[in-house]
Amino acid sequence: MEGFFGGRTIVLLISDCEERRQALQRTLSLWGPCVALSPSQSSREIDESRSLLVVDLDLSGRKSIETARAALAPYRLAGAPCIFLLRDMSSRCQMQANALGATDILPADIPVTVLLDKIGLMLAPPDRPGPSAALQQRFVAASAALSDLMDAAERGDGLPVEAIDDSVEAVNRAADGGDLDGWLDMVWRHDDATYQHCLLVSGLVAAFAQRIGFREADRRLMTEAAVLHDIGKARIPLDILRKPGKLTPAEHEIMNQHPQIGHDMLVAQGGFAPAVLTAVLSHHEYLDGSGYPHGLAGDHIPDPVRIITICDVYAALIERRSYKPPMSPAEAYAVLVAMGEKLDLDLVRVFGEIMLDASIARLGRYGAHVSKRGTDTAA
Ligand SMILES: [Fe+2]
Ligand SMILES: [Fe+2]
Repeated sequence: MEGFFGGRTIVLLISDCEERRQALQRTLSLWGPCVALSPSQSSREIDESRSLLVVDLDLSGRKSIETARAALAPYRLAGAPCIFLLRDMSSRCQMQANALGATDILPADIPVTVLLDKIGLMLAPPDRPGPSAALQQRFVAASAALSDLMDAAERGDGLPVEAIDDSVEAVNRAADGGDLDGWLDMVWRHDDATYQHCLLVSGLVAAFAQRIGFREADRRLMTEAAVLHDIGKARIPLDILRKPGKLTPAEHEIMNQHPQIGHDMLVAQGGFAPAVLTAVLSHHEYLDGSGYPHGLAGDHIPDPVRIITICDVYAALIERRSYKPPMSPAEAYAVLVAMGEKLDLDLVRVFGEIMLDASIARLGRYGAHVSKRGTDTAA
């Protein structure tokens, strides 16, 4: 397996339950592209040499075991690690899983964070220094909480307050460690663009708030605003949100409603701090009045919003998108500076220092591997 820093690791998921298949696919894309198949689709050709197999199949009866054996036959000899998620942990089922090639057996109702952590450790390349285990655990916790949050937002349910708190706590404690660079490394592995963006902006904002010495309560609010800033996108039609190309003016108009939609979702639910509501509503406003939705200018845009806007613009530039290659950090920073009066230049300068420190840390850790980041994740 080439691992994270070289080629893209593929997680192959085979599940006989459609609902679980969708939820697991989303969860597993934390560590790279995840292909999800039903047992009848599973003989499709795939590059086994770079796969981690996750099997979520019923093994309780003779017929279901036969189905599982047939589904897994193409992968048995490939030697890829194979995790079985068992709904029945009886010794009989565990024996069947072993006979089918399990390298790990876990209960199907295992907490998502434990599963992701385990997979992260299985995939970690042994020959290169990666982010610390503590940072990885925080990243996994933030991603799992985010998953609950986004699922609820898409279903139209109330946003789970506990998931918001958990993600904020995980991101802020990760920022305490000062390893923004390690955080970015893990963000690049995530294959879901929405999660990637949210984790990236949250990590940048948390690092910013820590750097300029905000009090803990203010850091929490800043990071909460960053976690929630694009929550309104959960209500934007998927064909616009995931369009593999540039949006038409009419589609832009719909997309640009997301700050107002997000703000209204939070107001309707209640319990969110005014600073968070303002940031969600105004994160696309520019100081020269050229932003949206209200064309606010200057003093009408508070500092926390200005910080989130800088991190949001920067994140969008360095992310991979289907219609453009990712920019290098230096190019993206130059774009921020060139935006002139739109952004708060004093804050842009502080942001530059934070990013410079992260690149220096990267050079120290990865040496010659530094140039690989950004290009190997391009869509
Ligand atoms: Fe946005
Ligand atoms: Fe955003």
